[in-house]
Amino acid sequence: MQEEKKQVMLSGVKPTGRPHIGNYFGAMKQWVDLQDQYKTYIFIPDYHALISVQDKKEMETAILDVAMDLLAIGINPEKVVLYKQSDVPAHVELAWIFNCLTTMPYLMRAHAFKDAEAKNKEVSVGLFSYPILMAADILMYDADVVPVGKDQQQHVEIARDMADKFNNKFGDVFKRPQALVKEEVAVVPGIDGQKMSKSYGNTIPLFAEDDEIENIISKIPMDSKGIVDTKNPDDYPIYIIYKLFANGTEDREMREMFEKGGVGYGEIKRIVIDKIISFIAPMREKRKEYTKNPEKVLKILKKGGKIVKKQAEEKMKEVRKRVGFELYSQ
Ligand code: ADP
Ligand code: TRP
Repeated sequence: MQEEKKQVMLSGVKPTGRPHIGNYFGAMKQWVDLQDQYKTYIFIPDYHALISVQDKKEMETAILDVAMDLLAIGINPEKVVLYKQSDVPAHVELAWIFNCLTTMPYLMRAHAFKDAEAKNKEVSVGLFSYPILMAADILMYDADVVPVGKDQQQHVEIARDMADKFNNKFGDVFKRPQALVKEEVAVVPGIDGQKMSKSYGNTIPLFAEDDEIENIISKIPMDSKGIVDTKNPDDYPIYIIYKLFANGTEDREMREMFEKGGVGYGEIKRIVIDKIISFIAPMREKRKEYTKNPEKVLKILKKGGKIVKKQAEEKMKEVRKRVGFELYSQ
């Protein structure tokens, strides 16, 4: 009874390499924090990943890796439907229908396409149509909220437009989703101060080993201010990163070290390293347990896939009927 009243939350993370703390604090952590409150769908968009991952072995490994990542951060497969997108080919069918309702100029405004163009990258039809498939992912399960980092907000807005376009033409079938963006972690900076991103090589991997964390933090460039000089902590990426891990008291103490001066960068870095390690190590160890038992992880994915496939089929029946494809029952 209670279950039915819950709103639906849906989100996903591409299998395209090791997740970093920007992915975690910007998006993934919200999924864990909110999983009890919502009926939750978390999935691995492997069709999306195919835009850049075009190697069988690499794809297979990446899918399993990200499934382990999600379980290790605390996604509870007993409560959450965890699945991979390619188990539900209906996503692609729905995306095709949405493609036909969308103009090129509309999609040309999407950030991912504009960025690729600006960088003179080759744009595949898949990349161009990326937000359409994402709209299908979201609308298929009547998601109310989609917790993502700020860079994905536009895509959720496109999904909302898509729901309107379809509903206006064919009658009410899709719910209008809302992006959930946590403002204080909307953009986590990388160790160089730019947005943390796999493509900028400025990340702290979420499951980094202790020595890797130590190396990365040690290399963060500081400035030439003296120990006694007062500094504004908000100007330093290392502080902004520390703040993600720190509790209120730790945060205040760190601010003081910058503001009052008297503490060297070496000492500050040590505190940051220890803090990050103490946060990451238990999660990393939990992940190692899953790597010892990949079969268990695959079983979870398979089970999730079955559940959503059935649900998607129900939705698609309605969609096919509305557009005029359902001349006789299958
Ligand atoms: P990347 O930019 O490293 O390739 P993805 O595009 O795979 O990351 O993003 C996965 C999720 O993490 C998305 O919801 C995205 O908005 C979020 N995210 C990525 N980088 C950051 C960041 N630096 N700060 C906050 N959220 C982020
Ligand atoms: N585009 C998202 C990203 O790069 C991944 C994604 C695909 C997604 N489909 C989605 C996220 C649907 C939320 C909902 O991170």
